[in-house]
Formats: sequence, C-alpha cells, structure tokens
Amino acid sequence: MRINQITLSPDELPRAWYNILADLPESLPPPKNPESGPDRFETLQKTMLKTALEQEFIKERWVKIPDEILDLYIQAGRPRPLYRALRLERALKLPENKIRLYYKREDLSPTGSHKVNTALAQVYYAAKEGFEAVVTETGAGQWGSALSYAASLMGLKAIIFWVKFAHDWKPDRRTLMKLYGAEVYPSPSDKTEVGRKILKENPNHPGNLGIAVSEGLEYALTHEEAVYCLGSVLNHVLLHQTIIGLEALEQFRKIDDYPDIMISCLGGGSNFGGFVLPFIGEKLRRKAEKDTKFIAVQSEASASLVRGEYKYDFADHAEMTPLLKMYTLGHRVEMPTIYAEGLRYHAAAPIISYLRNKGIVDAVAYPVDEKHVFERAKLFVQAEGFIPAPESAYGIAYAIDRALEAKEKGEELVIAFNVSGHGFLDLFAYRKILFGEK
Ligand SMILES: Cc1ncc(COP(=O)(O)O)c(C=O)c1O
Repeated sequence: MRINQITLSPDELPRAWYNILADLPESLPPPKNPESGPDRFETLQKTMLKTALEQEFIKERWVKIPDEILDLYIQAGRPRPLYRALRLERALKLPENKIRLYYKREDLSPTGSHKVNTALAQVYYAAKEGFEAVVTETGAGQWGSALSYAASLMGLKAIIFWVKFAHDWKPDRRTLMKLYGAEVYPSPSDKTEVGRKILKENPNHPGNLGIAVSEGLEYALTHEEAVYCLGSVLNHVLLHQTIIGLEALEQFRKIDDYPDIMISCLGGGSNFGGFVLPFIGEKLRRKAEKDTKFIAVQSEASASLVRGEYKYDFADHAEMTPLLKMYTLGHRVEMPTIYAEGLRYHAAAPIISYLRNKGIVDAVAYPVDEKHVFERAKLFVQAEGFIPAPESAYGIAYAIDRALEAKEKGEELVIAFNVSGHGFLDLFAYRKILFGEK
C-alpha cells in the first residue's frame, strides 16, 4: 500500500499563527496618509476591528490562537490533509519518485475555500468587541460565503457587497450566503454614495473588488452596529491564513520530505501567503532544509506582481484606505473580466510585495482566455478526482507545467501546491471554457 494522504489529528493542530514581520530583515514600509483629504487611519479605526488593527503591527513571531477559534477550526474540519499526487504523477508520466507532487486541500472547508480560516477569526473578534453585524466585499464569492458562514455560527448578521458580474454568474453561491442569513448586494449598488455615483456614470458597470471594498467601508462608517472585515491583502488576514502552511510544515516533517518549489494562485495574496509564509520564515531564520522557491500564479488580467509597479497606492477604488506600499496596476485600472474572479485585484499584499521586491517570491501569469489553465484543471480532475475552483486551477496549471519542464530537463524536484478552493459552484465556467456550451 502506498499512503498518499498525510494527516494530522485535531490535537496536532498548530496553536499559534506565524507572524513573518518578526523575521523580516527590516520593517515593512508602513501605511501612510495621502498628501490631502481626511485622515485615512481615522476611517479605519471607525470601521475595522480593534484586534485586526493591533494584529497589523504585532511584533511577536507567534500569535496564540484563542481556544474558541481552535474549536471553530476543528468544527470546520481542520487540520486538513496534504496529499501526494501519485495519480497525477502517473498521468503526467513523471519519473517515479524523482519528481514528487504534493497538494494541500483547502477546498475541504465548509464553504469551499481557505477564506474560512480568517472569517472565523474575524467574526470571533467582532462578537467579542460587541458588534452585531459584519460587512464586507467579495469577488469570487468565496470570501462572502466564508464570512456569512462564520457570522451564522456566531449569531451575527452579514452584509455582503459582491462584484456585480460575478454576483450575476453565481446564483447558487448567492443562495449559499442567503442560507446562512446574509444580506447580499451586487456592487456597485444603490446602498452607498460610492455605488450610486458609479451607477450614475455607468448603469451597467460590471464592478470590481476595489469598488466593493469602498462600499463595504462606507456601509461600516454609516452603521454603528457593523464592522468591516477584509478577506485578503492586510497583514492580519495573511497571519490567520498561516495555519495552512504551518500544518503543511508538520506534514512534510512527518514524511521526511521538503518542497523545492511552492506554488499557489494569488489575487490579493492571502492564500499564497498563508501557504508559503511559514516556509519563508524557516528560510529567513536559516532553518529550512532546502533553498525553496516560492511562485505566485496570476492572471494577465491583473498581474500585479508581474507587471505592476512597487509604490504606494490605495487598496480601494474610492481612496478611503491609507496608502499601502504594494506592487500595483493602479487602483482605478480597468481589468478584463475572467472566470477566476478572485484573482482580479489591482495589487498584491504589502508582505508579498516586499518579498517579491527582495527576490524571495517570484510570479508568473497566464493569458486572459484561461483555456490552458482550465485544460490543466481538467487533467487534475481526471487524475485526482475532485474539482478545483477556477482560481486554484492557476496554481495547479503552473505546478503541472513546471513538473513537465523538470521531466524534460531530467531535474529532480519536489513541488507543493495549494488547492485553495473547490469548483462545485463554478461548473458553469468549466462548461463554457472546456465544452463551449452556454
Ligand atoms: C478559491 C480562491 N483562491 C484564491 C483566491 C485569491 O485570493 P487571495 O489571493 O486573497 O487568496 C480566491 C479569492 O476569492 C479564491 O476564492
């Protein structure tokens, strides 16, 4: 018997998140106010969780996970397995044991993605700080579903501003959010000033994440009972997501193996960061077994790390956030629509941007037609048997392409990738791209 599943028991669940700020050779460039306009830090203090803002600048390497959140993680199915992709290796005819592929399964979360890891933490803190409602933006709908789920478990209300064209594509994911009791609005919406202004200029605006963030912030500013939660980009979100990489580190230790390359898709950076930061931390502390490479996979529609500029920019369309130092395409850029909507954000998280600038993280991007990515996902489905989210398919595509390149060159290589979500509610995208059906 060849065991292809590496598991951890609930009592092996990591007890602390990993904070990479403690191991960087210098401080991350701090957020700052633009030269004119209102104090953006005041806006954040009025709209966001106190705990989240504290965690943005925390100095300790390890941040204890409260017992209640550990219980919620276990309820949500953590720890999650790491798989050796033996069937995919065979399908690709890789030389046996010379090129080894592993993947982590965040698709096994109750709502279908890694976003649950930070949703549970943020809603727990929201309840503790006395809020009655959480409000947010969502692109692919995975973050909105995760926050609705967490709010439902803790008896809070969720208000979701969902990028309009993705909202219109995915009625079943909308049903899921509503089933959890959430209020869901297509963004731009008529619920906020920002939305109304954009709709006046273009009633058919397809929306984007930057606009939806502005709507969520405005809603929180005008509703005292509600607090704004963000699903990516900021340090505290990446911190919560490190549970993925910390489990993976333990799992690799159990089988006495270690990745040469770690690969995952990147929109704002929370999935990629959560998976790789604990391994990058080992490298920075000179504890890593190998000189591992870390590769973020993007769409050319929004390839911030590939062709963006490293500079201060706003995180939202309406310029309500402070300026963050990021690789950015510009906060007002128009990006073509793609099925992997979760990757369509104008910038990459400050932590990931910093690591990219230092040459520790690398990035690639696939064309906007998404054909190659979905073909690779099909190969994965047929070999490993489950359906990845369109976003996750980008990481899978690059892992397969890199494995085939290694075979061609006769390299020995251990590749690890993260399947950030499942694609059961995205089958229409597979249907359209692979089978040409309406
Ligand atoms: C399944 C999945 N993976 C990845 C992403 C990309 O976001 P991030 O880079 O914050 O992980 C998303 C975003 O919605 C997603 O739904």
